[in-house]
Amino acid sequence: MIDFNTLADKYGTPLYVYDFDHITQQYEKLKKAFAGRKSLISYAVKANSNLSLISHLASLGSGADCVSIGEVRRALMAGIPKYQIIFSGVGKRDDEIEEALKSDILLLNLESEAEMERVEEISKKLGKQARISIRVNPNIDPKTHPYISTGLHENKFGVDLETAKRMYIRANNSDYLDPIGIHFHIGSQLTELEPIKESAQIVADLVRSLKAIKIDIKFFDVGGGLGIVYDNETTIEPYDYAQAIFSTLYGLDVTIICEPGRFMVGNCGYFLTKVLYEKVNEGKRFIIVDGAMNDLLRPSLYNAYHKVEVVGKDSSDGSEADVVGPVCESGDFLAKKRVLPKTEHNDLIVVHSAGAYGFVMSGNYNTRPRPAEVALKDGKDTLIRVRETFEDLIKLEKMCL
Ligand code: LLP
Repeated sequence: MIDFNTLADKYGTPLYVYDFDHITQQYEKLKKAFAGRKSLISYAVKANSNLSLISHLASLGSGADCVSIGEVRRALMAGIPKYQIIFSGVGKRDDEIEEALKSDILLLNLESEAEMERVEEISKKLGKQARISIRVNPNIDPKTHPYISTGLHENKFGVDLETAKRMYIRANNSDYLDPIGIHFHIGSQLTELEPIKESAQIVADLVRSLKAIKIDIKFFDVGGGLGIVYDNETTIEPYDYAQAIFSTLYGLDVTIICEPGRFMVGNCGYFLTKVLYEKVNEGKRFIIVDGAMNDLLRPSLYNAYHKVEVVGKDSSDGSEADVVGPVCESGDFLAKKRVLPKTEHNDLIVVHSAGAYGFVMSGNYNTRPRPAEVALKDGKDTLIRVRETFEDLIKLEKMCL
């Protein structure tokens, strides 16, 4: 049991708390599921890019999937070996490509023909050969929220099968490109196995057709997307996930890469916020807390559900309320229509499953300093990011007019 009250007293609120031992369990579960074949788990840094958290994953043997050169730098700083780092993303700048090539990371994952031309040109300038993979868009509906679905042609990600094949042939004929990987990622918070299996089948068929023309793909990257339980979802078991992928790879000797973000860190995280006031407007009850959409955006942005509890109070004789923050937007809420007990000033509310896409999507709207972050490991709590101050928020601004 985590002692949320003690943590809130010690570090203040709003506060993010991450249970690193839970991350270890998630990593081990997935690694075990892939046992029996060559595999690399490349943690999707975007889900939570705190350096201590990445460093914890590095200590477990994880690689990193990055979508900006900033994330690549974080991964390297946190001790992820360069040959376990992948750089993806639809819009890499020239300076990002150059730095990634100089850093000698495992793969640049390409998302368009135009990008491949840039990478070839920059590799040529550097006198290097770029190890690349190509993100294929298998045009499969992942059956998740439209904002986090990426594997349909209507989305901006990846290239279609025909374009991918043309790119592989072209890359194979270049002195500056080494096409050794293939990649797909159809969406996030996936709870159905079939779309993943179908996509893997389509992409594995492409790998076989490339093999027939002597283009040897060594890394088969199945992206991320494994869903977690926020409410009462039925999720995919890592074992079934791995078996489904294995079943598509007959005749292929590839290293499987997967890029989980949410699965690895989502349920390890808690967002702690204190009750400021309660009020009732025309019969509607609001619990106003000191955390807001700028700290945890998912409810406002996706109408995402996060379980909330009032620490030490039982909801059984509660009534329906919205948990809202101080930000000046009607869309600023952490939870809607939840049965919660009557609260008092300074009661503590814990928002669950806040480890992924929580702090990383936070901002300073309404000049609100971002929360501190604390790690729990082996029964010990450690501050891993200091709470921002007003001075931090204004330090890059100039008052010159
Ligand atoms: N690989 C690629 C290429 C991705 O685009 C993503 C996530 C991942 C891996 C990791 O996906 P995961 O295992 O975490 O599902 N902000 C949204 C989620 C956006 C996901 C973007 N891409 C949210 O809060 O739900």
